[in-house]
Amino acid sequence: MSWWLDRSVGLAKKEYEQEESPKSYKSVALVVGVTGIVGNSLAQVLPLSGTPGGPWKVYGVARRPRPAWTANHPLHYIQCDISNEEDAITKLSPLADVTHIFYVSWMGSEDCDVNGTMFHNVLKSVIPYAPNLRHICLQTGIKHYFGLFESYGKIQKHESPFLEDVPRLNTKNFYYNLEDILSREAEKKENLTWSVHRPSLVFGFSPYSLMNVIGALCVYAAICKHEKKPLTYPGTKGSWDCYADAADAELIAEHQIWAAVDPGAKNDAFNCTNGDVFKWKQMWELLAQEFGVELVGYKEGQEQRSLEEMMKDKGPVWDMIVRENGLLGTKLEEVAPWWFADIVFCSEDVLSSMNKNRKHGFMGFRDSKKSFVSWIEKMRENKIVP
Ligand SMILES: NC(=O)c1ccc[n+]([C@@H]2O[C@H](COP(=O)([O-])OP(=O)(O)OC[C@H]3O[C@@H](n4cnc5c(N)ncnc54)[C@H](OP(=O)(O)O)[C@@H]3O)[C@@H](O)[C@H]2O)c1
Repeated sequence: MSWWLDRSVGLAKKEYEQEESPKSYKSVALVVGVTGIVGNSLAQVLPLSGTPGGPWKVYGVARRPRPAWTANHPLHYIQCDISNEEDAITKLSPLADVTHIFYVSWMGSEDCDVNGTMFHNVLKSVIPYAPNLRHICLQTGIKHYFGLFESYGKIQKHESPFLEDVPRLNTKNFYYNLEDILSREAEKKENLTWSVHRPSLVFGFSPYSLMNVIGALCVYAAICKHEKKPLTYPGTKGSWDCYADAADAELIAEHQIWAAVDPGAKNDAFNCTNGDVFKWKQMWELLAQEFGVELVGYKEGQEQRSLEEMMKDKGPVWDMIVRENGLLGTKLEEVAPWWFADIVFCSEDVLSSMNKNRKHGFMGFRDSKKSFVSWIEKMRENKIVP
């Protein structure tokens, strides 16, 4: 158990030192969505020498070519479009040594069929061909409890703090489809177990992520600084004042690895948060300090202003910031998912309970404020923001 606790205290987002590849592996991971916000942390944590279940060999899947910022990960990178059945079968069925699948992917659509097909293509390309496959981790999230973004605020959500075992909402949700596909497909193979992971808002690093709130906030702060404007909070009163929670991407990686190897976590679903709460007003103060800008917080009576709308013409400004600071060449729309930040800064009362985790033996935690700052630093170290 001490592995989780020791690493929780550490929380250094410095690059992990490369370790010598052992000659034989105890476990072989297939991380689907390896360049995403959690996939990237799985690719860092799995190969470490103290990681439970290890030594691990790691295959990682994504559509785009391998990005430079994954260069330090000892990773067998596979470029594959899992929405394409033929591509999935061709590239994934030869991986006969896979023992564990970590599915941390989506492609920006909440459509049940699109997401179901992607996941199903992976399972049918691996389950029949990998004789030693033991466990599948599926990442979904807290939309399980309040519904899809497209119906946000329009349906009756579950009462927060969210508990894993509440009944499903009476509405379509691709998370429910993924869970059903998982249990149905896993049943076809003897001794194949699974776990579902429901993180709250993720704090992590990936310039390729479709939902990276830290990325959006760093880019917003950098633009405010460049334009010599204060950092203005655009959200609602409720989101400024309420308690919120988050899940550090490295902690989510540890959570999935725990479920993959611990007999107490099989065929079940678990929330994943840092285990503490914070208020966004505190995080915005930290953000302003990190970027050396003046903060203008929520003003009484203020309506939410959409960052997507406010930032829609800032592409050339971002290009200039990138050039002037010698940053990695990125486009504004890649690194700043404004639509997602707009949802975060009108959300309230979306806390999750971690009690079931503790009952089953997962004790990992993070200090959310330290986590927030550490991922901003990681954005800087990787030259994504100045
Ligand atoms: N981000 C959050 O704050 C958050 C919070 C709670 C729950 N979740 C849930 O977690 C799940 C995973 O989301 P995420 O945010 O971790 O993902 P993400 O950061 O957006 O990363 C998605 C990954 O999947 C890859 N990918 C996308 N389409 C693919 C395809 N057709 N074939 C192969 N690879 C593909 C992407 O790389 P390429 O684009 O190069 O293919 C990338 O590596 C989703 O269900 C999401 O709703 C996310």
